[in-house]
Amino acid sequence: MERILTGDRPTGKLHLGHYIGSLKNRLKLQDSYEVFILVADLHSLTTKSDTKDIKENIKNLIIDQLAVGIDPEKVSFCLQSAIPEDTELAVIFSMLVSKSRLERIPTLKDVLRDLKIDNPSLGLLSYPVLMAADILMIKSNLVPVGKDQASHVELTREIAEKFNTIYGDVFPLPESLIPEELGTLPGIDGKAKMSKSLDNAIYLSDDTKAVTDKVMKMYTDPTRIKPTDPGHIEGNPVFVYLDQFCSHEEKSKVSEYKDKYKQGKVGDVEVKKYLIEVLERFLEPIRKKRVELLAQDNLVEEILTEGTAKARKEAQTTLTQVRKAIGLL
Ligand code: TRP
Repeated sequence: MERILTGDRPTGKLHLGHYIGSLKNRLKLQDSYEVFILVADLHSLTTKSDTKDIKENIKNLIIDQLAVGIDPEKVSFCLQSAIPEDTELAVIFSMLVSKSRLERIPTLKDVLRDLKIDNPSLGLLSYPVLMAADILMIKSNLVPVGKDQASHVELTREIAEKFNTIYGDVFPLPESLIPEELGTLPGIDGKAKMSKSLDNAIYLSDDTKAVTDKVMKMYTDPTRIKPTDPGHIEGNPVFVYLDQFCSHEEKSKVSEYKDKYKQGKVGDVEVKKYLIEVLERFLEPIRKKRVELLAQDNLVEEILTEGTAKARKEAQTTLTQVRKAIGLL
């Protein structure tokens, strides 16, 4: 069976954008691949030295994934900082990558711009090298990532290839897996991407009131002043969300609303009320599962301990091969 490694930095609760952009895909992948999901806690230190929330963030990251149906019987959740072989491999890989190669990575440029960093740490610069170690320590073949991370997977291939050429074949050349149909979910403010830092997210753990308030103040069609004005569907977050979250049975009602909206026959408030219904139907079982999961003491710890042990065993085997190939004692 082909092996997959994917991961996230533990930065907080997950939102609907995460569901559309990655969790939905993970739900599919867990049935056909051997999947490892890494909690990249060391990576989260690259841009944030304040760690007071890190435990809580790790817990939410795992609970949110379990609540949507990611199954720890099928997937191994592993903790980056508990696998010393990962960091050892990153040190070895760092000898195979030039500083200028890392400086050319587009994601780095975006992070420096967005966070206004003009003097990046060595760790931020070598972020993709640690990510290459995450992927290659367990010899993953496929890496599901967002478009912004594809350049990191490309670097991972270069590192694997260079290692194999210099020291002998140890690593597969992994490919990124970017499902086209997933797309990105806009924020409730109409900005292209839902994100915690933009404060425009609906969280998987939001209660009914929060969902209602957020949908009611959601950005729609700025050209529409009165409900009788013909409205626009394309890029209108209310309809993007309806398309993404409606069930099969709700599809015809959504197209009805679209037609009426275009003709100026339905107001924003009515469509928003329907969106709240649709989102509530989607979120309610997730909330219930969340409560059940939170009632189980030590659940997250146990899942992480087990998954990490499995990943670590693979990493130890890889590191033995790596050391032997290089000729280290
Ligand atoms: N860099 C990824 C992100 O910010 C998280 C991550 C860390 C990752 N290691 C990984 C993703 C390995 C895929 C594979 O989203």
